[in-house]
This record gives sequence, structure tokens and C-alpha cells, in this order.
Amino acid sequence: MPEGDRQQDPKQQAEEARKAFEQDFGRFVSLSPARDEQTGETRPHLATGEIIFTNLNEVEAALRELGDLRSRHTGKKSALASVKKMIGRVEPSERATFGQLVQQIEADIIGRIDKTEEGIKVIAAKMRTERERIDVTLPGRRPRRGHLHPITLLRQKIEDIFVSLGYAIEDDREIETDFYNFTALNIPENHPARDPLDTFYTTEGFALRSQTSTVQIHAMERRSAPLRMIAPGRVFRRDTPDATHNPMFYQVEGLCVDRGITMAHLKGTLTEMVHRLVGPETRTRFRPSYFPFTEPSAEVDYSCFKCNGAGCRICKQSGWIELGGSGMVHPNVLRAVGIDPEEFSGFAFGFGIDRMSALLYKLDDIRLLFENDVRFLEQFN
Ligand code: DAH
Repeated sequence: MPEGDRQQDPKQQAEEARKAFEQDFGRFVSLSPARDEQTGETRPHLATGEIIFTNLNEVEAALRELGDLRSRHTGKKSALASVKKMIGRVEPSERATFGQLVQQIEADIIGRIDKTEEGIKVIAAKMRTERERIDVTLPGRRPRRGHLHPITLLRQKIEDIFVSLGYAIEDDREIETDFYNFTALNIPENHPARDPLDTFYTTEGFALRSQTSTVQIHAMERRSAPLRMIAPGRVFRRDTPDATHNPMFYQVEGLCVDRGITMAHLKGTLTEMVHRLVGPETRTRFRPSYFPFTEPSAEVDYSCFKCNGAGCRICKQSGWIELGGSGMVHPNVLRAVGIDPEEFSGFAFGFGIDRMSALLYKLDDIRLLFENDVRFLEQFN
């Protein structure tokens, strides 16, 4: 068969390439450039007509689709490319007209794709701006404010009282040598507090301090006498947790060493503290007691803040609430840190913060303080 039979008319092939494009491009027609009646300008036609973009993903998909369409109809393997190759092969007399036709078809296809792409890009840009827009008139989301733990609240109140009385706040280590936890505090070798059943020891033989009284020794070594300080902090004891015990709890230690300090100063100071902490009508009482590091020693109670001494559930009908231990600093303790007990005397006291806050906040179980249940903690805002 002669070639001419299989080979189509080049003009017809060019028209077919255009038709194929028209068909394929159909979906984008509504986005084709429109002529502005007034100015005569051709602008991208943005009314989305048949194509309704509802989100940016769709717009981006359309752009990809248009890109594919471009390579299908203008790329190396496109019908248009093969038609262009025919230009050199047509009769010289028809070459110019055919060449013009092909050029015009190509310009039309490329022009329409370009304009449509431009139009969709404008829509995409608009949608991106919309997505990133911030409505400054919307009310902000308020961050939830935290607050201090009830033990911290009470500790700070106590600190404020003593700072106003001229005391320094001391902070010190929680792991101690035998000397600071016991020996310097005049606690004898065979004292039961040294028993590993009562005190936690590390494998190297250090003690987790079982009382803040250790800070008395550090403070006097650092600052000597005269001095006034309180030391709030954690202490550790081998107690099984129950409603009134925790193996870790907070104490405040107090120490005042100067010339001529007497038991009256101790009573005056602690009475002032409970007046400010519990209420101005609060009374104190001192009961004889024993601590190795004080002589004489006293147990301090304050009148019940609930019944004012009449007796109630909080004070277990006694009218009094236990505060803690106190006394006049033992001469041996002063000697252990090189202070002359002939020249200086002092008082000391120590009490538990957890227990006091449990009472003031009327908690019937002290373990609540360390369970970190927000429903509990949020009540102290
Ligand atoms: N350290 C004692 C305790 O943990 C409390 C104490 C009693 C502290 C008498 C003192 C004091 O400073 O003088 O039970």
C-alpha cells in the first residue's frame, strides 16, 4: 500500500490535536480567560462556574491536573509535537500556510493553559491567605493559672513571719554524715534514733536527715554567734505511711543564739508566731520534755483555733494542739561548733509543716498532700 493511504492529511492531524486538547481541557473552560467588556482586557476568569473549589487541596489538585494536561498536549510525545515534525515534509507550496496553522494551534493551547494556571494560582493564593488569617477580635484562650502547694503556702507564711523578726532563712543538704545528724546534736552513740530501723542510710553510710536540726550545726559553723535563722526543709524517717505519717515530710527548724538569750525569748517568739499564723487570740503552753540537743527542753502547744480551748474534734477534746519541740540549746551543741557556752546561750525549736497544714486545712489524711491529685490541690487556690 502506498504510504499516503495510511498517512493522514497533515492539516487534519493538526485539527485533531486541537480537538483532543479541547476535549481534555473541557473541565477548565470555565476558568479560561474572559474578556472584560469595558476595558477590552483579557483577564483570568475567576468565577469558578462549573468548577467549585471548596478547599485548598482541591485547588492544588487542579493545578497538578493542569500540569499533566500541559505535558500531554505540548510535550515531546504529544500529537502537537508530531504535527510540528510534519512541517518540513509537506509540499513547499503549502508549507507556509500549514506552518502558520500549527503555530496558531500551539499558541492557542499554551496560551489557554497559561492563563488558566494563572487564574487557579490566584485562587490558591487567596485561599492560603484566608487559611492563615487570624481573627484578632476573637477572645484569647486564657492559660490555666497554677498555684502553690498548700505546704509551700504555709512555709512561705512562716518564712515571712520570721524574716520580719530578723531571722535568716537557711537551706541545706538532705543527706548527712553521722556527725551532723547525730553527734554534733549531742545524740549519744547508742541512741535509738540512730537505728537503721528509724533512719534511712545510703550504702556508703550517709543518713537521709531525720530532722532539720542538722542545719543548726551547719549554720553555726558558717556564721558562728550571734545568729538567728530558720531552716524549712524535707526530712526522712522510716515510718509506714498512714493518715498521720509519711516517710518524708517537712519541718521548720529555728535557732537563736546571742548573749543573754533565755527561755522567755523562746516563749515570746513562738507566741508571736502563732498569733500571726493562727490568730491573735491564740495562747501557747510549754510542757517539760527531753531532747538531747536542748536543756531544758519543752513541748509547745497552742490553743485550738477551732474551739479556742473548749475542746472539739480537731484538738481531740483537749483544747490544745501540739506544735513541736523546743528548748535552750545544750552547751555541748554550742561547743561542737566552737561557740563558748559561757558567753552565748540560745533557744531552738522544730515543728512539722505538713502536720500543721493538715490541721489548718482540716485534712483527715496527711497523705493527700503528696498524692498530687489535682482535684485536691486545686482547692488551695
Ligand atoms: N528535731 C526535733 C524532732 O524532729 C524537734 C526539735 C525539738 C527541734 C527541740 C529543736 C528543738 O530545735 O530544740 O522531733
